[in-house]
Amino acid sequence: MKKMLMCAAMALSLGAGILEAKPKVAILATGGTIAGSIDSSIATTGYTAGVLGVDTLIKAVPQIQDLAVISGDQIANIDSKDMTNEIWLKLAKEVNRLLKSDVDGVVITHGTDTMEETAYFLNLTVKSDKPVVLVGAMRPSTAISADGPKNLYNAVALAANPQAKNKGVMVAMNDRIQSARGVVKTHSLNVNAFSSPDMGDMGYIVDGKVFFYNTNTKLHTKKSPFDVSKLKELPKVDILYSYANDGSGVAAKALFENGTKGIVVAGTGAGSIHDYQKDVLKELLKKGLNVAVSSRVVAGRVAVSDTDAKLGFIDTGDMSPQKARVLLMLALTKTNDPKKIQEYFLKY
Ligand code: SIN
Repeated sequence: MKKMLMCAAMALSLGAGILEAKPKVAILATGGTIAGSIDSSIATTGYTAGVLGVDTLIKAVPQIQDLAVISGDQIANIDSKDMTNEIWLKLAKEVNRLLKSDVDGVVITHGTDTMEETAYFLNLTVKSDKPVVLVGAMRPSTAISADGPKNLYNAVALAANPQAKNKGVMVAMNDRIQSARGVVKTHSLNVNAFSSPDMGDMGYIVDGKVFFYNTNTKLHTKKSPFDVSKLKELPKVDILYSYANDGSGVAAKALFENGTKGIVVAGTGAGSIHDYQKDVLKELLKKGLNVAVSSRVVAGRVAVSDTDAKLGFIDTGDMSPQKARVLLMLALTKTNDPKKIQEYFLKY
């Protein structure tokens, strides 16, 4: 009788083990302040980003082992201002490889300065509905009250959560969940540095529990047509900033002559461009340059007139110049036709 009870208890605990099998989350590290270090605990500037390796980041937050079976890999260890197309391609390929396996979700540790661009690039190039979460920190690992450990805990909780499937790539910073499509860095120093001015947050994380209250209505991941699996480079696209007395087309001409295939204009207001600059851009449009109009204003949308649309100017809607650049690069891997590129800007 005692033996039977023991067997039953073992079967139950095995059964529970199977039922409670932990999700597998892969952490891919790319550097940033979350891996940053300086020899002063009060310093939150002047540190070196991208110093600690992925194993140190994982060891610093042992609590993530309760949430998931964790693996780690180092993709790069840089300050994200130095992000390159090559690293983006490597990252997209690795995320796609991992998500084809039995990995349930991916967390990418990243510098905050260009996090939104990497997140949006992956939003358009990852071919899986499993969760992909970018996370970073505003204070280096050495600072009093560093925000990295809690952010990493939250990111793993989100990537391990089945509710996070099919939401597109997300950013988990300061307890808030934001979509790759909507998120913008809106503060240079504060830990509450990210928000989604046009779309709002997707949700919130409290003590490892995930709450969604908003969905990203733009197409992403499996519904995106962009396939980078065989690409080794991306078309050259640059950004031109507009300002009062912006009377020179020198920069646009120089970029075009240097091989730039597309320019995103960070226009004033709803995408207006100084006439002197615009005249040069009209000439370059005729020579085959693609010009997408965005705005230097953080919220709202641009409004490209029908006349300008007929000339080939592309309306980027509510997208920031830095994200419009990402979409224009990917669009140019498929077509040079401004009308087709315009359709991409409406959908993604
Ligand atoms: C970086 O973007 O790599 C440095 C700044 C940061 O992570 O907050």
